[in-house]
Amino acid sequence: MSKAKKLKTRFVCQQCGQDSPKWFGRCPSCEAWGTLVEEAEPTFTPGAGGGAAFGAIGASRPQRLAEIQGADVPRSPVGISELDRVLGGGLVPGSLILVGGDPGIGKSTLLLQAADRIAQRGLTVLYVTGEESARQTRMRFDRVEASAQSLWLMAETALERIEAHVEKLQPAVLIIDSVQTLFTQGIESAPGSVSQLRAVTARLMALAKGKEIATFLVGHVTKDGAIAGPRVLEHMVDTVLYFEGQRGHAFRVLRAVKNRFGSTDEIGAFEMKGTGLAEVKNPSALFLAERAHGTSGSVVAGSFEGTRPLLVEVQALVSPTVYGTPRRTAIGVDSNRVALLLAVLEKKAGLDIAGSDVFLNVAGGMRLVEPAVDMAVIAALASSHVDRPVDPHTVVFGEVGLGGEIRAVVGAQARVAEARQLGFKRVIMPANDRAQLRDEDGVQLIGARHVGEALDALF
Ligand code: TYD
Ligand code: MG
Repeated sequence: MSKAKKLKTRFVCQQCGQDSPKWFGRCPSCEAWGTLVEEAEPTFTPGAGGGAAFGAIGASRPQRLAEIQGADVPRSPVGISELDRVLGGGLVPGSLILVGGDPGIGKSTLLLQAADRIAQRGLTVLYVTGEESARQTRMRFDRVEASAQSLWLMAETALERIEAHVEKLQPAVLIIDSVQTLFTQGIESAPGSVSQLRAVTARLMALAKGKEIATFLVGHVTKDGAIAGPRVLEHMVDTVLYFEGQRGHAFRVLRAVKNRFGSTDEIGAFEMKGTGLAEVKNPSALFLAERAHGTSGSVVAGSFEGTRPLLVEVQALVSPTVYGTPRRTAIGVDSNRVALLLAVLEKKAGLDIAGSDVFLNVAGGMRLVEPAVDMAVIAALASSHVDRPVDPHTVVFGEVGLGGEIRAVVGAQARVAEARQLGFKRVIMPANDRAQLRDEDGVQLIGARHVGEALDALF
């Protein structure tokens, strides 16, 4: 490059994608520290790169609405029902699916297994790995006992070469592991930078749409600013799935956070085993398997995930603060929510709890996001505080308001049915939900209007 033509650069946040002409220690948009990295401005030459990518989608003329096929998108199930559920019933040809998650959580394993299942049905699948050699990946395939004939493997990071091979092989499904390792020659920045990531994804999108290839992109969630995270791609793709779990726990949850072809509140449940990921058909039973009976602070919450009721153990430990400000730690539930519930307990149920250290944990590494678990959190906190165990055959659910009132929740009947199926004898639930339900054999249904009422029934 000549000296006169200076390369233009800008500073891009690797967390949220915000760019600015100046460097900041803290991103002005997402407020993350140290995530701004200098990148070369993408140079678009008309007809090449970006331009060609969009041209490749084709059908670039107005069509009558009635002429366009749509409505019933054809889907082909992967054959792993927990994955198909989250996808909204199967793979849509030409769709771009981002699978995000922490390094080591099991993204590659899940996609290796999915690749094998799809290929078993005779569809051509190309698995591109940018992280390991083909031999290493082969060893992984062996570990999960994958052996399909129409499964192809390639270790490559240059997008142009991948495109060329896709052209030749014409796969029905393409898997890119991971998108952060890929680079295209048109962009000056390093692989993994926001500019590269976006350019690569735009090209893969064009490839997917143009050739009707269902494409999975693996994206590692990153903590530091060196590599851009999958967040910066969320708006470009059709479906965003996050694979979650806690270190040291075998349980994994696949969650849809965006889906143009299905609902976003479905989850898929998996367990990491020695031979890959196994589907978990009954997550409640798994979560409750190791529950300690007769200890204070342990309560079974009647939760809901997607279309499925889920019983999970919520554990609390409340102890007097020895010095300074009380400690508050919550794992698996939002800590702001816990602070709010502690205030309700203090003010509306008369418990002297605000000055205590509070630790809260959801067993099994599960993350609970719906407000219906409020009542279980309250019950666990109260149980630990007064040091009296809750009857182990009791399930608790209900949203708690600031006045201490217990509000109705969705899916009360399904929560009760799940409790009965797993042998629980008593359900403490919102009074309004209780009124809608008939009496059940073998399960006592107790409706409560106020936190105080629920605590009376519990202790
Ligand atoms: P991996 O799929 O490589 O994670 P990611 O692609 O998200 O970075 O899985 C990583 C972990 O899973 C690794 O620590 C080993 C473990 N694992 C098993 O326990 N059983 C298995 O069969 C496989 C393939 C991996
Ligand atoms: Mg991997």
